Amino acid sequence: MQSSGHSISWETGDVPRSSLFDDTFYTRRNGQAETAYVFMDGNGLPRRWADAGRFTIGELGFGTGLGFLETWRRWIETRSPSQCLVFTSFEAYPISADDMARALEPWKTLTPLSGTLVSRWRARSTLAMPWQMDEQTQLHVMPGEAEASVANWSGLADAWYLDGFSPDKNPAMWSAALMQQVFDHTVAGGSFATYTAATRVRRHLQDAGFAVNKRKGFAGKREMMFGQRTAGPVGTRYAIAFRDA
Ligand SMILES: C[S@@+](CC[C@H](N)C(=O)[O-])C[C@H]1O[C@@H](n2cnc3c(N)ncnc32)[C@H](O)[C@@H]1O
Repeated sequence: MQSSGHSISWETGDVPRSSLFDDTFYTRRNGQAETAYVFMDGNGLPRRWADAGRFTIGELGFGTGLGFLETWRRWIETRSPSQCLVFTSFEAYPISADDMARALEPWKTLTPLSGTLVSRWRARSTLAMPWQMDEQTQLHVMPGEAEASVANWSGLADAWYLDGFSPDKNPAMWSAALMQQVFDHTVAGGSFATYTAATRVRRHLQDAGFAVNKRKGFAGKREMMFGQRTAGPVGTRYAIAFRDA
């Protein structure tokens, strides 16, 4: 893991803002609900877990770990005993453990899971990844620039959370080359979801091979995108049934 050089400032309600990218790590409205709506619902989760023995999620941008923690919380609520979740996140500019603890403190339904993550994060240079977070949950945070580290990743994701900072401020997280790597590292019938609906990103995703759809965005955002690496005719593997934003 690279050393923590990611400096953070704080907006009202302890919402972290990156000084490197001049953007917040998640919506000011409710980052936990945004994760549930955009990334989980957008990928058909937790419903798709029902018939999976092992399910792999890839995430671009680990940030505070909020996306992982909300996923882990829902996974614990819904999993059956023999199932396994592998969560692999790609992160080049890790935040400090103190900043992570401060960012996660407001999310009371995520304790004690957030405490477990922060302790691991604080000691991370001495611990080998992947981390076994519980007997059915593995976390792997891959260091370095996402484009290179996804290209070198030997895994395939069933679902992707595309969560870079906004495309205007963080173009490397939405490049054509990276979207192609994401597609190439998705199982047939796998999916992605993202909060953005930027035209340039949509084109990169479509050019890579994804079937791309839009739906209403979270908390007042007009649109977000989700889609599939189709296996045969569109929508063969699962149908997405959405809640309201
Ligand atoms: C919007 S934040 C992710 C929020 C996160 N999912 C959470 O739950 O807090 C975007 C993240 O992408 C990381 N990042 C930005 N550019 C990157 C790049 N080129 N490669 C890998 N990570 C990058 C940033 O350091 C930041 O942590």
